Amino acid sequence: MPELCGIELATPVINASGTYDAIAARQAFGDALLEDFPFAAFVSKTITPEPRAGNPPRRIWETPAGMINSIGLPNKGLEGFLAEDLPRLAELPVPLIVSVMATTREDFARCIERVARRREVAAIELNISCPNVHSGLIVGENPSETEALLDALRPLTEKPLIVKLTPNTADPASVAAGAERGGADAVSLINTLKGTAIDPVTGAPALGNGYGGLSGPAVRPVALEQLRSVRARVELPIVGMGGISSGADAAEFLALGAAVVAVGTESFRDPRAGSRIATELESSLLSERSAEPVLDLD
Ligand code: SIN
Repeated sequence: MPELCGIELATPVINASGTYDAIAARQAFGDALLEDFPFAAFVSKTITPEPRAGNPPRRIWETPAGMINSIGLPNKGLEGFLAEDLPRLAELPVPLIVSVMATTREDFARCIERVARRREVAAIELNISCPNVHSGLIVGENPSETEALLDALRPLTEKPLIVKLTPNTADPASVAAGAERGGADAVSLINTLKGTAIDPVTGAPALGNGYGGLSGPAVRPVALEQLRSVRARVELPIVGMGGISSGADAAEFLALGAAVVAVGTESFRDPRAGSRIATELESSLLSERSAEPVLDLD
């Protein structure tokens, strides 16, 4: 059975933070969603210590083989999340991973202490890689800052800490190594690649914030290369993501050493993508296994 940091998973396919609104989906589909939930674990939209309104519109722009988002982490803040969203997310039939972002170590620590205390939470993802929030990237670009953050947070909980890495730095593997030295339990990669777009009608920046983060199939080769370099550098389990839209794509990430994969942008197009990709992955792994004896004969 697939697992991540000791958390057993029915399949190796989870969601990428912020790409699937499970509370809205439950409202739309009712308990049918719980009977056939598309992911083996659910990663929440990133929460911050205080509520955030997010960036001005437009927040999403479609690009060839992908999209750019400049969402800007809108959320209810730590207390709003704990009071309103966490009880609803805890009803999902899969382990819950809460994604957290803050701009100071003290604020990160406050979030970790409050979130980790809740038994509904299986693990915490530290988002040190959002390109759309001022100073969201500073820690995630720097191996020693990342290590120092983990040094500060590690003693606060025994729950697994997963560090979400940015691709927007020269050497993500060094940052992964900093996370490992600081005591992280896993890393996840990649977050979005910084990008921008011009509205062809107005000639002005297409996104309200002027720029955003690129995701979708266009980034998959970048994600695979960063996964390869991080895998070569650290022993930690890796959640691999970046443009996965089929079981064959997911198999590439697993072949490069990801422990599990996360589906993001594809869920915007197909909300059932997680289940479909898990099914496709299972048949692609089965066909690989049935091919083995033939290869042995050679
Ligand atoms: C956002 O809300 O801006 C996207 C989240 C992220 O990039 O981490």
